[in-house]
Amino acid sequence: MSQPLTAKFTLNDLRNARVSGRRVPMLTCYDYTTAKLMSGAGVPMILVGDSAANVILGHPTTLPVSLEFMAEITAAVRRGAPHALLVADLPFGTYGGSLDKGFDAAAKLMKTTGADLVKIETAEGHLPLVKSLADAGVGVMAHMGLRPQSVNVLGGYRSQGRTAEEAIEIVSLAVRMQRAGAVALLLEAVPADVAAAVVAETNIPVIGCGAGPACHGHVVVMHDILGLSDHRPRFAPLFGDAAGPMRDAFSSYVRQIAEGLYPADEHNYSMSVDERRKFLASEKTPATY
Ligand code: KIV
Repeated sequence: MSQPLTAKFTLNDLRNARVSGRRVPMLTCYDYTTAKLMSGAGVPMILVGDSAANVILGHPTTLPVSLEFMAEITAAVRRGAPHALLVADLPFGTYGGSLDKGFDAAAKLMKTTGADLVKIETAEGHLPLVKSLADAGVGVMAHMGLRPQSVNVLGGYRSQGRTAEEAIEIVSLAVRMQRAGAVALLLEAVPADVAAAVVAETNIPVIGCGAGPACHGHVVVMHDILGLSDHRPRFAPLFGDAAGPMRDAFSSYVRQIAEGLYPADEHNYSMSVDERRKFLASEKTPATY
């Protein structure tokens, strides 16, 4: 069994992991109760991803989720996992187009949630935002490769960097993100060779999400590895079955109510004999209540 997380896992711990070769596990999380379980299992890094739009709110894309919703659930996760290195996703539409708007959105997440870092799905045009956040002391994890918020431009949820030209672009952007001040990188759905090249050309921690073994840490959507999501990417194997036990418990609840087995005597509150006698003897009618 892994040990509970009893001391704060910091950005420096992540940097040290890059040097020592210790691989860092990271999971997405969206609520207090699950965060507590993750903390108890020793998960050192948690991402409150905008995949909440899919797995919590049921949207087909991540585009509709709001900054306010992300802030609310990030704060809940922080309460459940006080020692984790907590990364909050900036949702679609809160940081494109205007440097000030992006800065304000990131500052709001940092001020109101207890997050340690913000994650931004980055393209070339976001370099100035990453720099201005870094200058202000905000740790940015730059997400590259498959960027789900750009699904309409990418033409679907497809792996990225599979041509030499695209691979070079990803490595080049990673280097420039580091130069702009990003404290970590996240590579989603890129070939292992591309991630290895990013690791070789940069000196900040690289988290992979379907990016092969060279990355210093690995993240997956928790619903995928628990069998709770509709579509599981190939890089997220099942680590357990939460759906089966939950379905069984729900159907047992339905059955016990239908059969009159629940609630049983032990679930009921009682009155003292005296109070009960007085209550049952009271001559109240609808008109006198
Ligand atoms: O939102 C999310 O869960 C993510 C991960 C898939 C990396 O960005």
